Amino acid sequence: MSLHPRQFAVLGNPIQHSLSPVIHEHFARQFGHAISYSRQRLERDSFAKYVREFFADGGGGLNVTVPFKLLAHDCADWLHESAELAAAANTLRFSRNGVEAWNTDGAGLVNDLTGRCGQDIAAKKILVLGAGGAARGIIGPLLDSGPASLTIVNRTHSKAAQLIDRTAVKYSEVELRALSERELVNAAGPFDLIINSTSLGLDGGEVSISPDIAGSAFCYDLSYGTKAVFAKWALQAGAQGFADGLGMLVEQAALSYEIWFGVKPETKEVYRFLSEQLT
Ligand code: ATR
Repeated sequence: MSLHPRQFAVLGNPIQHSLSPVIHEHFARQFGHAISYSRQRLERDSFAKYVREFFADGGGGLNVTVPFKLLAHDCADWLHESAELAAAANTLRFSRNGVEAWNTDGAGLVNDLTGRCGQDIAAKKILVLGAGGAARGIIGPLLDSGPASLTIVNRTHSKAAQLIDRTAVKYSEVELRALSERELVNAAGPFDLIINSTSLGLDGGEVSISPDIAGSAFCYDLSYGTKAVFAKWALQAGAQGFADGLGMLVEQAALSYEIWFGVKPETKEVYRFLSEQLT
């Protein structure tokens, strides 16, 4: 056995607030694995070079966060279908195919929704707010769970329509639609599950859909902590239940860990620890 800990890192910009090192060090202690996990702030033009050198030096694995998930997808030699469908990757490892890219965000969300949040997805009507990279990452695993329908609403309607068109190629059996906010009020619902994938909590934006739509739904915000303005909105709107994205963060990390080590960590304890720290 090597005396040196295996090297891991999360790449992003900004990156100083990332909780990934805390989560992965927690997981490593469960198995007695010796790891060193750091945060690396990179510039766009140094990303691909950093990844190559990291693995050439024997690095064990990388996580990738905003704004580099698309670059992580582009620089890989091999794509798992999760990264292919999302056109974005959050987990890299080096194996027989070279640099391999995965996206564990969507499966992490589904695990948190169906596990800790106790929500069924099968046969449910889902509304996703936003049509950017975060939405692309979650849509495939949500649809693999067999909902009755999936609707996307986005500030820029054309992006929602494009994402639906792209998704319909693979998921022709599910009712898929892109609506404008105005159409949402008049034509849609009730929804069982509303998921916020927009970055409105980062840019000081406010939720602009009618609170009436939340009454029948469980609301999930991919953002967590002070950025989870949609979760706060859901509370005020009288939703059936709501959660922020801390559970998804922990679950996607557990799936990354499994890709690197072949063992799945237990997530309850680190979730409890982090939620206490954040409140
Ligand atoms: P990410 O990778 O985090 O998804 P992105 O690809 O830039 O980032 O997408 C951000 C998403 O949040 C988009 O759907 C964006 O809407 P537009 O396509 O109209 O830009 C949405 N978004 C960002 N700020 C918002 C705000 N204040 N209100 C509503 N939607 C917002």
